[in-house]
This record gives sequence, C-alpha cells and structure tokens, in this order.
Amino acid sequence: MYTQALDLPDGPQAAPAARAVPSDSALQSHFDAKMERDEKVEPRDWMPDHYRKTLVRQISQHAHSEIVGMLPEGNWISRAPSLKRKAILIAKVQDEGGHGLYLYSAAETLGTSRDQMLHALHTGKAKYSSIFNYPTLTWADVGVIGWLVDGAAIMNQIPLCRCSYGPYARAMVRICKEESFHQRQGYESLLVMMQGTDAQKAMVQDAVNRWWWKCLAMFGPPDADSPNSAQSQRWGIKRISNDDLRQSFIDATVPQAQVLGVTLPDPDLKWNEARQHHDHGPIDWDEFWSTVNGNGPCNKERLATRVAAWEDGAWVRDAALAHARKQQARSLKEAA
Ligand code: 3HC
Repeated sequence: MYTQALDLPDGPQAAPAARAVPSDSALQSHFDAKMERDEKVEPRDWMPDHYRKTLVRQISQHAHSEIVGMLPEGNWISRAPSLKRKAILIAKVQDEGGHGLYLYSAAETLGTSRDQMLHALHTGKAKYSSIFNYPTLTWADVGVIGWLVDGAAIMNQIPLCRCSYGPYARAMVRICKEESFHQRQGYESLLVMMQGTDAQKAMVQDAVNRWWWKCLAMFGPPDADSPNSAQSQRWGIKRISNDDLRQSFIDATVPQAQVLGVTLPDPDLKWNEARQHHDHGPIDWDEFWSTVNGNGPCNKERLATRVAAWEDGAWVRDAALAHARKQQARSLKEAA
C-alpha cells in the first residue's frame, strides 16, 4: 500500500486555496525522520531529488543487467547436453527477463519511462553489470555462472530486500527466491560434471579460473573508491558495503569449492584466523573499468544484440498499441 502520509487533507473542510503546502524544509525533515525510523519510502511520498536519481540509476542499471544477463546463457540453450538441462536453462533465462521487467516497473514508479531507460542502454549511456561482457565458451560456463555469478548476485541482492524504497525492496524479495534456485541448479550441474571424465573436470576448472576474478569485481569498486556508497548507505538503499559483500561471498564460496573439488585461482587465498575471514589477492581494477567503460570482450556484441531485439520487436509494440487504441475507442463508443 502506498502511504498517504504527505497527502494534503481533502474533503469539504479544506478548500484548495486554504490548504497549507508544506515547505521544502518540512518535507525534508519528514523524509529524514522516516529514514531515522527505517521506514519505507513509497512512490507518492516526497523524496529528495538526489535520492530519486540514485534509485533510478541503480534500479535501471540493475534491470539492464538482468536482460543483458540473459544473453551469455541464452547462447547455450540450443546446445544444452540433455532435455532436462535445456528445460532448466530456458526457465532460468526467462526468469532473468522477468526480473528485468519487475525492475523496470519499480524504476517507472520514480517517474522515468521504460523508453527513456532503454534508450540510455541502447545508446551506451547506461551501465549494466560488467560480468555479462565475458563470453561463455563451454557448457561448464553455464554451471559456473549459476554457482558463482548468481551466488555473487544473491549476496548483493539479499540486503536489497531491506532497501528503503518500497517497490524496489518488494521486487527484490521475489527475485532473490528465484536467484537462489539459479545458484543451486548451477552448483548441482557442476557436481555432476565433477563426477564425470577428466575432460569434464578440466572443463569445470577452466571455467572457474575464467570467472572467479570477474565475480569478485562484480561487487563494485573498493569502498574507498566507491563514489555512491556512503550516501546510498545513509539512505538505506545499500545496506552492506561493496567490500563487506565481496568478503562474505569469498568466505561462503571457499568451502563450496572444496566440496566441488575445484581450486579457486588465487594463490593468496587463505584463512586469516585473526580476522576470521579469508585473505585474497589483488583484483585487477584496470580490467574491470576497461570492461565497464565499453571495452570488454563482448560489450559491443551484447549491445548490438539488445538493439536488434528492440528493433525486431517494433511491430509487436505497434500492434499492441493499435489494439489498445481500438479497445479504448470501442469502450468510449459503448459508453456514449
Ligand atoms: N558493473 C558495472 N558497473 C559497476 C559495477 C559492475 N559490477 N559495480 C559498480 N559499477 C559502477 C556503478 O554503477 C557506479 O557507476 P555510476 O556512478 O556511473 O552509476 C560506479 O561503478 C561506482 O560504483 P559504486 O560502488 O559507487 O556504485 P553503487 O553504489 O551503485 O554500487 C552496485 C554498485 C553494488 C552494483 C549497486 O549498484 C547495486 O547493488 N546494484 C543492484 C544490484 C545489481 O545491479 N546487480 C547487477 C547484477 S544482476 C545479476 O547479476 C543478474 C543475475 O540474474 C545474474
């Protein structure tokens, strides 16, 4: 339910001219008090421009990541090794499309339009997760994406279920449930491959070697170099910092790798008794920024595919609009 807290009183006792319009500072104080009480902000509530812009930025980037994220795995639907694996993969890729739609809808409640967001993606102005700009070279990549990429995504997204913006938080609850299934199916498919031939085991290890560091970078730059974190944490948009989430992911993943029987490709990865966490080697941030800025191995291909899908779908959007207009005209005629 959207809160009515800031609506002006209506009814006969409050003639429009007599209504008191709250000043900006009163609205800001009301918002600050809400943050203090850790309450949800809803679409009709007053919010500072910067809060709104930060949410549009993060939610739209997140939505773009979901729909671009369909591409690396979609690449394997026609080559899945069995009917069961194909059915699982189709369902997973469809889920990612659904996540994109919930998130675009959540962003629209902030006053932006889907066309604006997609225009920003298609013209290369909008960011999306760096991780989806790498190729899926073998079937093991599909399992490793489920285990590591979706595992990292869940680690980052569970705290977003408590985000201060209601529509985003509620969308994340459903998304996280589905992501959890994605992670398990990836891990299970790797467990099967690791009980197979030497060639299958080597294929899994090779995929882990290629994806591990990219997954660590996925959490975003170190806290000290993250321009948005401090304010987003004050506003309860981000609940846990990039570095802390990265650390939790590493700590959770090391025992899973042992059970699976793969080596994580970091000679510096070891348990630190004093910190009660794993230490790890340096992340290549130059490579990360180069990919974020459009120069990863698949950036151009990913964007070109999204643009082509948009252009190829124009007739469907036109037909849906024409149908809606016809229906509207018909109901107007009937009402006359
Ligand atoms: N890829 C691309 N850009 C990234 C990035 C990444 N992995 N990590 C950070 N950045 C960008 C930020 O967007 C920001 O750019 P901007 O200021 O131009 O918008 C810049 O780097 C600085 O980073 P900050 O840490 O200051 O940015 P944020 O505070 O926004 O934190 C974030 C980055 C942790 C990714 C945060 O935005 C977030 O939690 N987003 C929601 C989750 C999300 O988008 N996940 C993407 C993966 S979705 C997915 O994996 C789908 C699943 O099905 C597999």
